[in-house]
Amino acid sequence: MAHKLAAGNWKMNGTRADLGQIMALAAAHPDPAVDISVCLPATLISEAAQHVADHPITIGAQDCHSAGSGAHTGDIAAQQLLDAGARDVILGHSERRTDHGEDDALIRAKLVAAGDAGLRPILCVGESLAERDAGRTLERIGAQIDGALEGSDGPPSALVIAYEPIWAIGTGRTPSLDQIGEVHDFMREQLKARYGDTAAAAVPLLYGGSVKPGNAAEIFGVPNVDGALVGGASLKESDFTPIITALSAS
Ligand code: PGA
Repeated sequence: MAHKLAAGNWKMNGTRADLGQIMALAAAHPDPAVDISVCLPATLISEAAQHVADHPITIGAQDCHSAGSGAHTGDIAAQQLLDAGARDVILGHSERRTDHGEDDALIRAKLVAAGDAGLRPILCVGESLAERDAGRTLERIGAQIDGALEGSDGPPSALVIAYEPIWAIGTGRTPSLDQIGEVHDFMREQLKARYGDTAAAAVPLLYGGSVKPGNAAEIFGVPNVDGALVGGASLKESDFTPIITALSAS
């Protein structure tokens, strides 16, 4: 069985003054059976990692470069994120695919770089509304998974996959539970075909896109949903803790 994971994605939000939210999250004594990660802007990683050092919470980043070092102004290598205290890294988020033109081949290279550095990658996949309306959701998800995992014999170490329909991110709209279940079952089958039943079962499959305290429990009741990648509702401890509690109870 995959570990349960509640991952927060602060995106380009927050300054050091907001780190109290992470202290409060740590103080809420979350269930040790649920992994918690908060993926922060790079500027906050080092200080936040020190705050959670004695707590069962890890700090993550939101992207890394595919190279280990070199002439890449403004970019950050996976090893540097690890050195700052990150243990997880979101890769292939739809906002990076759109804002920075990231394609599956680049995301594959970043997955390898993250794995080499010892970071746990949270690979994001998801369809646009046009793709869903055209009945191409599973085709799109399958292509993104294939593109990112191509050539790997086993799952990249500690792989996590997050299904995030682009039209559900930050919009307050969520797919139906049947639609979430269909995609999560499909992703598990894709992983089984690629790596075998045991390795596939160990990969946490997260749902992301407008997860809130009010809808978390029903989403976590869907088979093959092992947790959530939470954007807006991860910014405040008072929103994130009830989501973690719902995951713990699922
Ligand atoms: P949201 O973002 O929870 O604010 O919809 C999720 C994400 O983009 O990871």
